[in-house]
Amino acid sequence: METQEMINEINRLKKEKNVVILAHNYVTLDVQDIADFVGDSLQLSIEASKVKADIILFCGVRFMAETAKILSPQTKVLLPVEDAGCPMADMITGEQLRQFKNNHPNALVMCYVNSTAEVKAESDICCTSSNAVKIIETLPRDQKILFVPDQNLGTYAAHQTKRHIIVWDGYCPVHHIKMTKQDVLDMKKQYPKHKLLVHPECPTEIIKYAHVVASTKGMADYAKEHDNLIIGTEVGLFEQIKRDNPDKSILPLASKAICVNMKKIHLKDVLTSLQTEQYEITLSEELRKAAKKSIDAMLKLS
Ligand code: 13P
Ligand code: SF4
Repeated sequence: METQEMINEINRLKKEKNVVILAHNYVTLDVQDIADFVGDSLQLSIEASKVKADIILFCGVRFMAETAKILSPQTKVLLPVEDAGCPMADMITGEQLRQFKNNHPNALVMCYVNSTAEVKAESDICCTSSNAVKIIETLPRDQKILFVPDQNLGTYAAHQTKRHIIVWDGYCPVHHIKMTKQDVLDMKKQYPKHKLLVHPECPTEIIKYAHVVASTKGMADYAKEHDNLIIGTEVGLFEQIKRDNPDKSILPLASKAICVNMKKIHLKDVLTSLQTEQYEITLSEELRKAAKKSIDAMLKLS
């Protein structure tokens, strides 16, 4: 099938089956273009909680689709590619978190939204990259905090809030490995006047060079108002920003910073998912309700 034919069929099925397509900023631009809403994790969670449709088709990774199901239980939630996961979310299990909690009694558990439903269910409050600092600021200064699974977001939030936070040692392979301090030094040498924007999933040795540390939405918003930028996150966001600001000098920090899981979703997978209604996200009601508590606690403060 030709691309345009596929797009027409996606749009037809979307209407016929009353489907809303949500997409993360990292999926390819052709997939972003057929979505009803494109955004960062916080925006997508908020959208999922408001959706009035029979089906949510989630173009992103599994924890995002799971979050949509947690917030919108009456809606069928589809993930077009079954194994589109987030390696960082899988770096801590519910059992490991229970053990971590046993080792630190009286601590409050904050989980990054990039986590499984089981981990959310064991946590007190959830956060995204755009609200982690803000949420920690609302907690009593002497509150002991455990942060899972991202060591980098946890460490960044600890520095920003001047709190003692005990972090799990998970990380995002894209921000922690595929982007390096050497990439920063090379780009700064080549483009000394450009401002560096980075995601808080980057390690401290990259963050310390940044002009702006923000979620994907935060970076896209900054780029609307500024020129001469280096984008330090997954390349999907760079491509979106470049397309929306074609006359500006905008460069990726590292063009090898590709999230292979986000890139698994192609238009043909979206079409097949609409046709077959696969792969449906299912969670037991007990797990869903337990996980929802930590997300609700976050949304109340966002
Ligand atoms: P954002 O919430 O900033 O979009 O980040 C999600 C993510 O997975 C980053 O790797
Ligand atoms: Fe997970 Fe990293 Fe991909 Fe984001 S970029 S979905 S944290 S692997």
